[in-house]
Order: sequence, then C-alpha cells, then structure tokens
Amino acid sequence: MARNQPVYVCSSCGGESLKWQGQCPHCSEWNTLTRVLGVRVASTAAAASGAPAMPVALAADPAAEERMSLGMSELDRVFGGGIGAGSVSLLGGEPGIGKSTLLLQVAAAVGAGRPVLYASGEESTQQITQRARRLALTAPHLTLLSDNSLEAIMALANERRAALLIVDSIQTMQTAVAESSPGSPQQLRECTAALVRFAKQGGTSVIIVGHVTKDGAIAGPKLLEHLVDTVLYFDADAGSRFRMLRATKNRFGPVNELGFFAMTDAGLREVRNPSAIFLSRNPQPVPGSLVMVARDGGRPLLIEVQALTDATRFSAPRRVAQGVDANRLAMLLAVMNRHSRLSPAEHDVYVNLVGGLAISETATDLPLALAIGSSLKGEALDATLVAFGELGLTGEVRPVPYGEERLKELHKQGYTRAIVPQQNAPRQGVPGVKVQAVATLAEAIEAAFQR
Ligand code: TYD
Ligand code: MG
Repeated sequence: MARNQPVYVCSSCGGESLKWQGQCPHCSEWNTLTRVLGVRVASTAAAASGAPAMPVALAADPAAEERMSLGMSELDRVFGGGIGAGSVSLLGGEPGIGKSTLLLQVAAAVGAGRPVLYASGEESTQQITQRARRLALTAPHLTLLSDNSLEAIMALANERRAALLIVDSIQTMQTAVAESSPGSPQQLRECTAALVRFAKQGGTSVIIVGHVTKDGAIAGPKLLEHLVDTVLYFDADAGSRFRMLRATKNRFGPVNELGFFAMTDAGLREVRNPSAIFLSRNPQPVPGSLVMVARDGGRPLLIEVQALTDATRFSAPRRVAQGVDANRLAMLLAVMNRHSRLSPAEHDVYVNLVGGLAISETATDLPLALAIGSSLKGEALDATLVAFGELGLTGEVRPVPYGEERLKELHKQGYTRAIVPQQNAPRQGVPGVKVQAVATLAEAIEAAFQR
C-alpha cells in the first residue's frame, strides 16, 4: 500500500480500514473509525527503511542469541533469560504498583556497564534523581531525560548508542507523525510503531511502560500488544507488599512465567523463595487448613488452602470460593457427598487460597477436599502434611503433571509427609518424605486422618 494513502483506524481495537464505515469491521464497535494520514505500521527494519528484505539462512541468525541480564534473576526469568537485543517489551500495571521503581533499578543495573537512557514523560529529572538517591543507585552510564517528544528521545538514545531505552510511559509520549494529543489511539500506535522500528534498526532493547484501564488491560488499542515482542503485567494483591510479574506474551521465551518481588524501603527486592510468601501459617495446627503444591508460572509453589464449614441456616447452603473456580468447588462437594463418609451437603462451605493467588489447575482438588473434611470433622491435619491431586467424578484420585517436581519442592520447604495420586508416587520414593499414594478419595481421607 502506498505510504501516504489515508487509512481509517479504530480507536477501540486499532484495526485499519481502507474506507470509512460506521462500524469497525474488526471489533464491531460503532463510530470508532477516524482518518489518519497513513504511515503504515511496519514492524521490521527492512519494511521501515523501504529497502527490500534480505532472506537469511535459519542457521545464521546471530542476533537470536544475544541476551542482556537485567540485574535480577527473577526479572531475567520472566523475560525468558534476559532481554533480547533489539526487542521491545511492554510493561503494564496499575498506578503506584512500582513500574517506574522497577525500571529505574533495571536502568541502573544495566547502566553500570552499558549506555542506558531512561526517558520519562511523567516525572522531572529531579524527581527521578531523588528516587535514584533513595534507592542508593549508582550507574555511570545511565542518562535521565524528562521529555515527551518521542523524536527527541530516540535521537538522544541514538547519539548515546543506548543498549537499553526505557520509555515511561507510552501514554505521555508524542510523535510529530500524528497530530492528536498524547494518549490518543493514534499517538499510542505511531509512538509504539516508531519505537519498534528504532529497536529493530539499531539493536537497542526498548522497555515501554503502559498504563492499564480499570479492567486491567493495557490502555489503548490492542494493537500495541501485537506490535511488541513481550508483554508483561506487574500485579499485586491489594495492600500487599509482594508483587508478581507475569509475561502474557513472549516471542523469545515461555509465557506465564512468574517473577516475585517485594516492595521495600529500598525499592523492589526479588523474592527467590516465593513459596515462603504463601506459607505464613499458624504454628498450631487448626482444622480446615492444609498445604498443597500448586504449579503456576512455570514453577512449583506451596500454598495453604483453607476451608470453613458451618451448619447451614439456609435452604440452599452457601458456597464461596476464593482463588479456585466455584464450579470446581461445587463438583468437589458432590464427589465428597457421594464417595466419602464426610458429607458437606448440609453445610455452608467457604474455601480460600491464602496469599491471593488464583489457581486454575486441578491439583487443588484433593487438598481442598481434605481441608473441607478436616473442617467438617473439627480435626486438624498433621502440620507436616502436604497433598496434591485431581479428583474424578467417581471418587478416583487422578495424577497431575510434574509430580516429582512438586515432591522435591515440599521436601525443600521442610515438609515430611505427602498424600499424592498413585501414578505420581515415585518408585524409589523421596528421601526424607513419607509418600502416601492413594487411588480414591476415601483412601486419601483415611490416610490423612490416621495417626
Ligand atoms: P512507582 O514506581 O512510582 O509506581 P508506578 O510507576 O507503577 O506508578 O511506585 C510508587 C510506589 O512505590 C509508591 O507508593 C511508593 C512505593 N515505593 C516504596 O515503597 N519504596 C521505594 O523505595 C520506592 C521508590 C517507592
Ligand atoms: Mg510511574
């Protein structure tokens, strides 16, 4: 398509159309198309420079391997083993969660050895310097810039031959290519596209901060997420000092990797042993509590599951699930009712995963059933016990993936007894852990409450 032909861009999804229509053909929103003078989004250097693209043999792509450490192993892990040269990453998260703090720390860690430009359209250089001083950061190769002209930022990054460019935030940036004000869909699109071209041409790694809307998505057209290589979300439980960083898109590594951080007086610290976050348990065993090994973000995590049952005063008992699917809980209760002697039918049931993480995998079934059973009986489970496993509708206990890894993790955290699905029990056993393999829910309950 000719470069200066006008196109119509949807302010909702960012989709392009060649003619004006009342309804966007991509997302079906009404009255969202606006005319822009078309600099088409080109995400590769060749397309941007107008030169014909050169084919490359698969074996001979040296750029594919270049990775730069960001100074914290939790961070490198989420990026898929450091940040790729010439890659563009988008970091989203609610205001105040710590995006600027994290990236200033990253800028300083990288800037200790390589040129880095930290450009902010939100804070003055004085404010950033003050924060850097509070965080006791020193980085001789780090340059700070407070500006919202994207062209000025890219020119400086070019002049300094920056290995890393941080843009905080995309919603405050303005490019001369588009006429609208910062934060408009057109500006967001053009600024991101320009940064992608800049990164691919010069090999500079770019990290862009993006604000999120009320429902948690990165504000602006969905197109931003398509343009960049990596999309990361920074998240926290309300009021908690712990932060989770998750990659929802990664062209260079696995998605859904989780990194854990804690916000301290001295900025963000990585949490190397995240299981400890979710295990601030009452030292006295109490009914209705059990530790399970979940697997989330590519790693095993020990999480306490809690259940509370109470004789119901309603015609239909209440069932409340925090962190697990409510339908899954309803199914579990039906299985317990039919296939064990512990019947929750006349009870209100509340279940909760401590720490605020939501787990969708089925390995929560067995520990939940045992915690509910423990609350029904009013009998505490052994404090050294951990369980995991899926429950089938006929009361059978089914295996879950990564059984051995889960057993290793519970051993590492000092637990000595595990109730696991038969197929997950290792033949050689695990030194220091008494593994009890069960085939049915009834067997599991018997094993859990035997003394
Ligand atoms: P910030 O990085 O400005 O968040 P974002 O860029 O995502 O909006 O984080 C600001 C919050 O972090 C603020 O509430 C104060 C807190 N904070 C600390 O607790 N310790 C620190 O060392 C710093 C720099 C900030
Ligand atoms: Mg900020």
